Amino acid sequence: MPFPDSFVDEVRRTADIVRYVSEHVQLKKMGTSYKGLCPFHQEKTPSFNVNPDRGAFHCFGCGVGGDVFKFAMLHEKVSFPESIELVARRFGIPVPESRYEQGPDRKERDEMLTLLDAAAEHFERNLWSAPGTRAREYLLGRGFKKETLERIRTGAAADSWGDLFETLKGRFPVGALMTAGLVREGQKSSRPYDWFRNRAVFPILNDSGRIVGFGARALDGGEPKYLNSPESPVYQKSKTLYGLSWAKEAIRREGRVVLMEGYLDVARALENGVSEVVATCGTALTAAHARLIRRFTEKVIVNFDQDDAGQNAARKSLDLLLEEGLKVHVVELPTGDDPDTFLKAHGGDAYRQRLEAAPPAMQWLIHRAAAENDTKSPAGKGAYLNALLPVLARIDNAVERMAWLPAIVERGGLDEGATREELRRALSARATAVKTRVEASGPAMPPPAPQGRLLPAEKLLLTLIVEGSEALPAALLELQEPDLENLRSAAILRTARAHAAQGKTVTRAGLENDLSEDDRRLLSEIAVGAVTGGGVTPGDCVRELRCGPLKARMAEIQKDLARATGADQEALLSEKLQITRLMTTL
Ligand code: UTP
Ligand code: MN
Repeated sequence: MPFPDSFVDEVRRTADIVRYVSEHVQLKKMGTSYKGLCPFHQEKTPSFNVNPDRGAFHCFGCGVGGDVFKFAMLHEKVSFPESIELVARRFGIPVPESRYEQGPDRKERDEMLTLLDAAAEHFERNLWSAPGTRAREYLLGRGFKKETLERIRTGAAADSWGDLFETLKGRFPVGALMTAGLVREGQKSSRPYDWFRNRAVFPILNDSGRIVGFGARALDGGEPKYLNSPESPVYQKSKTLYGLSWAKEAIRREGRVVLMEGYLDVARALENGVSEVVATCGTALTAAHARLIRRFTEKVIVNFDQDDAGQNAARKSLDLLLEEGLKVHVVELPTGDDPDTFLKAHGGDAYRQRLEAAPPAMQWLIHRAAAENDTKSPAGKGAYLNALLPVLARIDNAVERMAWLPAIVERGGLDEGATREELRRALSARATAVKTRVEASGPAMPPPAPQGRLLPAEKLLLTLIVEGSEALPAALLELQEPDLENLRSAAILRTARAHAAQGKTVTRAGLENDLSEDDRRLLSEIAVGAVTGGGVTPGDCVRELRCGPLKARMAEIQKDLARATGADQEALLSEKLQITRLMTTL
């Protein structure tokens, strides 16, 4: 059931597109609009624009664009009605109940989120009462403050096979509890039993702050140390970062994010006032994580554990993060420390100093490669350089890339000429690999709509359509088919004229449904472009457009008149008179 138009309009008016988009993309103000890295294609220089006056976004790189709903649709991969609801909720606009006739996916997701929240509430109640005694003593004993534990909604799973199931079974179907990973079906009896037992439970929230899963820590040295929720319709581990919803604001404020390994590292950082922190949820970092990070900031400080596993994870993560075009630094902590132990021992200020001192990933890698290889032997030198070349080749900026060369040469005791030659080879190998990848990934992005072919009056009229003007319908109705014929935006103007003829107000949103992808792109490109000025009206534009063909015809008549005689001359003169009259009445 669709929303009433009045509701859609209200949401559109209330929703601040810059605020909405900037929760997903880091934007910088440039004049009257905002610029950032496009979340819809991979780029390293910003071509993604948001224009607050128009309520529009457009990417000049890949050509996507539209209003705040379109952004939500593309970004959250939801339908148009869902995008309206999403944006409405974000801006606190009450959503009409009538819409609760939903598709099955949507209902399942909603139920899943509700039941996960109910489970979290139950775990929270446990933690602060008798069933949570062991977990509470453990966490408080590790020095976590009650406020911190409450803030991250820590809970406890009772030492019982049916505590959660008994609590929730009356409210939710067993199937849903199983899909959410909270209960399992027994092998012998089919009686469901609780999956999390006798553990401290940390809810995992998605970036809009809804609980999507849990990580649960054993309390008595049980195995595994952490038991995690399985993936579900609402939880994809490769796209979820623990702590992101709490960190969002700080990430934006600090212009960076600190990437950690563990739930309790994040908890300890929050407790010490370092809030721009997130962690993966028991999985290796993925390219999707890197893209998620890039929606918020360009700078990542990686702080993995100082043990071997942590260091190896760090190196793999660096590759992915650099590949995504992020600026990456690596924190160094004393051997044996993780963020939790370091913060607990030395506090937030000392930790911040470590963050400030974190060397760029390349420097850290040089250091590691030199430590791991015997750079006195020829084979060791080769291995040392081979560890660094792929990463070095990944740096797009040639100046920056070459700036690392002296450090690499010096640290490894290498021959500079030979090192340059190896780098050159690594670069061309990479170029081939990238090219193959691009070719394999199908046709290239379509080029941006050819805005260049718009006549000035045409462009102004489209701008007025995007801006909205009461005078549009009357002016558009003046446009005749021959006026439109050769215009780049003929289809848009024809549709707009049709809307006017049906007595509708002409709005960009209204037009978009009836336009081709290409024309929608043209409009969105217009929407982020220059504003009209000097009080130009739709009527002015239409007059100018109508004059266009007339002027062209006039020029032809003028040419023909030079040679015409008799009746031909007569006809031409009469047409000329007609046109002159017409032009003065336009
Ligand atoms: P750690 O073993 O470093 O745990 O694993 P931690 O977060 O520092 O916890 P404490 O300080 O020992 O209590 C880091 C992360 O790896 C995942 C969890 O996400 C954990 O936070 N992990 C670890 C698992 O998913 N399963 C495990 O069995 C262990
Ligand atoms: Mn730890």
